[in-house]
Amino acid sequence: MRSVGKLLAMEGVRWAFPCSRWAPGRPEWLLCASCVQPEEKHRIGQFMFTRDVKAAMAGRLLMRKLIAEKLHVPWDKIRLDRTAKGKPFLASPFPPELPKFNFNVSHQGEYAVLAAEPELQVGVDIMKTDLPGSGSTEEFFRLMHRQFTDREWHSIKGMDGSWAQLDMFYRHWTLKESFIKAIGVGLGFNLQRIEFEVSPLKMEVGKVYSETKMYLDEEPEQWTFQEMLLDDKHHVAVALGDTDINTAQASENIKPSGLLFTILTYEELVASAVPFTPEDSSYWDSFTSKQEVPQRQSSKTPLKS
Ligand SMILES: CC(C)(COP(=O)(O)OP(=O)(O)OC[C@H]1O[C@@H](n2cnc3c(N)ncnc32)[C@H](O)[C@@H]1OP(=O)(O)O)[C@@H](O)C(=O)NCCC(=O)NCCS
Repeated sequence: MRSVGKLLAMEGVRWAFPCSRWAPGRPEWLLCASCVQPEEKHRIGQFMFTRDVKAAMAGRLLMRKLIAEKLHVPWDKIRLDRTAKGKPFLASPFPPELPKFNFNVSHQGEYAVLAAEPELQVGVDIMKTDLPGSGSTEEFFRLMHRQFTDREWHSIKGMDGSWAQLDMFYRHWTLKESFIKAIGVGLGFNLQRIEFEVSPLKMEVGKVYSETKMYLDEEPEQWTFQEMLLDDKHHVAVALGDTDINTAQASENIKPSGLLFTILTYEELVASAVPFTPEDSSYWDSFTSKQEVPQRQSSKTPLKS
């Protein structure tokens, strides 16, 4: 049974699962498939590459683990739905004690990550710094020109050397996406409306930074952006604010948790999982018939698939 006291005491959660290193065997994969909603199992099964299948499955399992373990909802009673723009939310049973309870996942590079907060709107994004799949960094930046403002390009291109510039590019990318994902708007939002002033310029692995500022339509915003490097290539940004973009103020008495991401093992990922759909051996056959990554991208994954 749910305890109101426990729910109100819920703190923010930051989890990361290294999905690219995960090599599930048949029993593991079939267990995972029977622990997610059928429509999600179907959607995940349609990805062409194992990399994407594992990442999406890990994302679903992270969300259910969160709700089972932090809201104390039995795994098989959790009903997740998506907004019209695709942001997953807990449709039932929703905790009336935590009306703003919010979570978000991201998967790219070697990890699937989840961030959750009891009182704040949350968006998370992870990106791995990598060389462009083809062409030069300059050409890649030219193609991406419209995604960032002149001031943002100034800080990206002001870094010393093309790797440092790519790293700063992906840092800005995670910041922008984290905000877009927090407010749940998806495609169609004019990215030139949001501008980041990053600080500090250099980050160290294993620390959480929250000095970066965002401007919306050139006005400073009260949103908090927590940034960290999961390792020397993976940038993660967590956007935290109020629920309504028009009153986007992180309330002064709500302190977002400055948490590091905890890296989960497979055993931890499924620790509370309960199968609720029948085992489907064809799902394993389909999984084993896929390639890990597209041939030409075997070593480089510059953009999300
Ligand atoms: C929909 C969108 C937000 C998804 O993000 P992404 O960067 O492709 O992928 P991520 O791995 O970070 O996140 C994917 C997860 O976010 C969640 N998600 C999907 N739509 C979402 C939305 N509208 N808002 C918040 N979260 C969303 C889902 O859980 C999804 O995983 P799942 O479908 O496997 O469950 C993104 O594609 C988008 O529309 N971006 C628009 C802004 C843009 O053009 N940015 C470019 C560079 S700044």
